[in-house]
Amino acid sequence: MTATQIRQAFLDFFAAKGHTIVPSAPIVVKDDPTLMFTNAGMNQFKAIFLGEEPAKFPRVADTQRCLRVSGKHNDLEEVGIDTYHHTMFEMLGNWSFGDYFKKEAIDWSWELLTKVYKLDKDRLYVTYFEGDEKEGLAKDTETYNLWKQYVDEAHILPGNKKDNFWEMGETGPCGPCSEIHFDSRPDNERKEVSGAVLVNADHDQVIEIWNNVFMQFNRLKDGSLQPLPAQHVDTGMGFERLVRVLQGKTSNYDTDVFQPMIQFIAEKSGKKYNSAAKPGDNDWSEAVAMRVMADHIRAISFAISDGQLPSNNKAGYVIRRILRRAVRYQYQYLGFKEPFFKSISAFAGGTV
Ligand code: ALA
Repeated sequence: MTATQIRQAFLDFFAAKGHTIVPSAPIVVKDDPTLMFTNAGMNQFKAIFLGEEPAKFPRVADTQRCLRVSGKHNDLEEVGIDTYHHTMFEMLGNWSFGDYFKKEAIDWSWELLTKVYKLDKDRLYVTYFEGDEKEGLAKDTETYNLWKQYVDEAHILPGNKKDNFWEMGETGPCGPCSEIHFDSRPDNERKEVSGAVLVNADHDQVIEIWNNVFMQFNRLKDGSLQPLPAQHVDTGMGFERLVRVLQGKTSNYDTDVFQPMIQFIAEKSGKKYNSAAKPGDNDWSEAVAMRVMADHIRAISFAISDGQLPSNNKAGYVIRRILRRAVRYQYQYLGFKEPFFKSISAFAGGTV
């Protein structure tokens, strides 16, 4: 499947389950002082979760452009060095606003991954919240039992508050979550070391692809958790990671989302992109630089088209820093002496 087909299959699947498909909100957030940029699909629905606004539809699905470069969710330093973090990425999401809860969310995520996308079940791992005494939160045995219908117990793993209790920011909607991870290592490596020990261990071939959050609380300024008026579902699947897994690649940058940009950058710089380059190899810095440029130009293009120009303060300064980082890599490692970004920004439009 192409990236476009993969995205459409997600939206079609949830539309068939009674979800209304809604557009992505802009990346730039103007009306929430706790947030500069959209960092998760649920941001645009925050007021619904908090019970401050009624939901227009009980079930929605979409693909949201997210930027994780500041605040609680910040991946900037990983970008380019690894093959699966991005400044801007698309988050495929399905939501229930006081409608279905854990059972349907889990049933449908399994159905989509294994029946529609036909992912190998042996390579999938799921997690559940182990509870947290300090917060007064119990272990999520309901989620564990729901997964047990489908997943071998050795593939159902407990997770702590850091990995399995999702929070939007210092304050705001939050709740226990259940992540789905995919192990794309070759069979011989999988036989030697179980993927179970590599989940949430920063292994570049055992990566989280989807997070199902069961929204039940509002984190207040004083740090306490206030139960929400209703229970909701908030899910987020990393589109670029899903595409990588479905296209059988070991790097997000080897998919049809990024390859046209990477190849263009490689051609114009007169250097070859080596996806397999390792730290210490001669072509490592060049490979990192090409990934940084491809990633950053996408983020900058969409931030600008969503209304945020680079500037010298606040959100504009964050965009300027991304721009500077990309320019530095372009000059330092790829030998471009002339402004080059305008020639690749056209590609960014083709990636979402
Ligand atoms: N809101 C959840 C996340 O961003 C789905 O991971």
